[in-house]
Amino acid sequence: MVKPVTQFACAECGAIHKKWTGRCDGCGAWNSIQEEVPLSSGPSKKSLGTAKGRRMALTSLDAQEAPPPRTESGIAELDRVFGGGLVPASATLVGGDPGIGKSTLLLQAAAAFAAKDAKVIYVSGEEATAQVRMRAQRLGLAGSAVKLAAETNLRDVLTTLEAEKPDLAIIDSVQTMWADTVDSAPGSVSQVRAVAHELTSFAKRFGTAIVLVGHVTKEGQIAGPRVVEHMVDTVLYFEGERGHQFRILRSVKNRFGPADEIGVFEMTGAGLQEVANPSEMFLGERDRPAPGSVVFAGIEGTRPLLVEIQALVAPSQLSQPRRAVVGWDGGRLAMILAVLEARTGVTFAGLDVYLNVAGGIRVGEPAADLAVACALLSAREDAALPEGTVVFGELSLSGRMRPVSQAETRLKEAAKLGFTAALAPEGCKTGDAGGMTLRLVPDLTTVVGEVFGAA
Ligand code: TYD
Ligand code: MG
Repeated sequence: MVKPVTQFACAECGAIHKKWTGRCDGCGAWNSIQEEVPLSSGPSKKSLGTAKGRRMALTSLDAQEAPPPRTESGIAELDRVFGGGLVPASATLVGGDPGIGKSTLLLQAAAAFAAKDAKVIYVSGEEATAQVRMRAQRLGLAGSAVKLAAETNLRDVLTTLEAEKPDLAIIDSVQTMWADTVDSAPGSVSQVRAVAHELTSFAKRFGTAIVLVGHVTKEGQIAGPRVVEHMVDTVLYFEGERGHQFRILRSVKNRFGPADEIGVFEMTGAGLQEVANPSEMFLGERDRPAPGSVVFAGIEGTRPLLVEIQALVAPSQLSQPRRAVVGWDGGRLAMILAVLEARTGVTFAGLDVYLNVAGGIRVGEPAADLAVACALLSAREDAALPEGTVVFGELSLSGRMRPVSQAETRLKEAAKLGFTAALAPEGCKTGDAGGMTLRLVPDLTTVVGEVFGAA
């Protein structure tokens, strides 16, 4: 018998190496190489040119395709992130840090789908059934029709799923499942890949919606190669800051709906509760306008979201002043500081700069540029923006403002929450501004001069 050739794969980028090395040549990651046995026992010896395959049936693009039927859980925050409900025969990966609440969320989701007459199986590879049952009791879900199993052997899981044919199967987690066809430990690259592959093909063959739970590595990647993210239809991240109660379910990939959609939850003593109006929550602890604090009118997915951006500027004792960011991109902060200095002459040399998005949410939108610039200016000049003002706008390297999309939605949300004025780029399609006073600025120099009276 031919011994399968062992190879080494990088857990970060999936690059294949012949030998083990301390550092991956592909992505430069340290200590990420793991031994693995290839999935197939070897390639076919026939060349692709000589041995002909089956001829494929080709169709046209205009064939009528009904939209996929969807099942809603009734948890609105969850259904929206799924793009309007769960699609049969789909595979979803829910990633997140350990302890963030993935099992809690999925147990609640399982019960919600079961309450809609879906047949749901929850397989836990991490907890005993008694533990899951105890959690269900705590969540008030003890009467739910969800079927439960504690199992890590993938073969047994697949056999059971095939016999039961559930509408939804939740596998918690992909790292604890173990395929006996692969000769490495659970959680290794090849195991995770094999498990995800088997379960996604099961979903396609039997029409079951499969949800895989995955733990995220320190670097924020789902442990195992990115390959798993490519295999599934939908990738959701469950995120939140420790010390804050709220959690955000974010879709980063969705073959059946919009990506970048978020659902907001609050972790309470009785499980996760939906947060129907997140802006209210993120601004909840805000008091009167203070220097360095600016309210950014953002968009997350299809929804407007107001968040407070805080900056602190203080004389530095260090030869290289500190630049610290929480909830925003550090590179982008450096860019805004550089644009401020080069285009308006406001310098932050010799000053430590701290930037924080309040509440622990992460903002990724470039439309936050102007709000960040205003927070920095406001902190440096010790001057607060007028009360009731929201800010949005993208900044170009030339110091000019760029209009951003969905200005009207942003303004309406701000008006709804009692804001009365907005600082935004010229050229935004503001339409009906909801009664807000608009101050449209062409560039950063105008902001520095007219709004802060500096420079
Ligand atoms: P869990 O769902 O086990 O996290 P994960 O599966 O992502 O590892 O959630 C664990 C945390 O959630 C734990 O620290 C306790 C907290 N929690 C609550 O605050 N309230 C609850 O009702 C439940 C079930 C958990
Ligand atoms: Mg868990």
